[in-house]
Amino acid sequence: MSDAVPAARPRVLSGIAATGKLHIGNYIGALSVWAKEQDRYENFFFIADLHALTIPENVPPDYLREHVREIVALYLACGLDPDRSVLFLQSRVPAHPTLAWIFDCLTPVSWLERMTQYKAKSEQASPSAGLLTYPALQAADILLYQPKYVPVGDDQRQHVELSRDIAGRFNHLYGDLFVIPEPLIRQSGARIMGLDDPAIKMSKSLAEKRDGHAIALLDPPDTVRRTVMRAVTDSNPALRRDNLSPGVENLLVLYEILSGSTREQALHQFEGNGYGPLKTAVADLAVDTVAPIQSRYNDIRADDTYLDKVLAEGAEKAAAVADHTLHRVMQRVGLA
Ligand code: TYM
Repeated sequence: MSDAVPAARPRVLSGIAATGKLHIGNYIGALSVWAKEQDRYENFFFIADLHALTIPENVPPDYLREHVREIVALYLACGLDPDRSVLFLQSRVPAHPTLAWIFDCLTPVSWLERMTQYKAKSEQASPSAGLLTYPALQAADILLYQPKYVPVGDDQRQHVELSRDIAGRFNHLYGDLFVIPEPLIRQSGARIMGLDDPAIKMSKSLAEKRDGHAIALLDPPDTVRRTVMRAVTDSNPALRRDNLSPGVENLLVLYEILSGSTREQALHQFEGNGYGPLKTAVADLAVDTVAPIQSRYNDIRADDTYLDKVLAEGAEKAAAVADHTLHRVMQRVGLA
């Protein structure tokens, strides 16, 4: 019998910003993957409530307080298990903004201005400094925990790459300290598109503003059905594999992922038909996906003391890891 010690499981860390309504894109691109792979990794998942403040008009204080609880409850309802994953709020671990400041000071502004999410969001009249430095805080979120992987949807790839660059710059200036993390992005379903506009990704803020844009995880079944049945397709009379418009492609991806089918199986079922059968199938699958999440969510929300306990324990475990890294950083830069 070998007495070799089994290798420690690789660590993952990821989070969701506390803005807008969580939707099936967040579930497919992030939450469902985190939950399914919990036994494979050592897991840290948090709610990025500090990130929610970058556009303060969008998050009145009472909304933020309640929204954070809604998201924690959804984490649990989607299968994240506090016995296997550390679940916490970013704002409860002060090492995040402290390391973010150190990163702000070593990150060239030109790196931050290059971020496509900044470019898109800064089109508003006067973007805040926080909107610009947001990815340095994200780098701190990640690097404090020294994860091997960061499981995210495709839209976060650039932010994870920037975190790698910031880690590399720190290691270069002060000596190797940070593990350079890798994004973990699923092959299909990493960018679910808006059902009302398949040219843009399904987004939490549009889910809140526009009917028909997203399947929100807490939408009632009839809303889910209506949203899918109204989804934008094209004017072709029948589905053909050599002529898939972005809207039809998006519905096929949703069908494949939610039913566990391959592209070939999906085409076998729907090719040659109009779009009604595909939409009906996606609507049924989406309702079957959100219904058990909602039922667990309602049970969890019946007693918020459980949420408080999960978050208090999570913050303590997260802070132990984060404070250790921060202390080493402070020694390197001369602050300790
Ligand atoms: P956020 O809150 O916009 O999204 C949370 C997660 O959901 C994924 N996602 C999608 N996946 C597939 N299709 C979509 N339409 C879709 N929309 C969103 C995102 O890629 C993400 O994985 N800045 C981050 C939050 C954050 C973070 C971090 C993430 C802060 N610090 C550290 C990882 C590590 C954000 O706003 O994600």
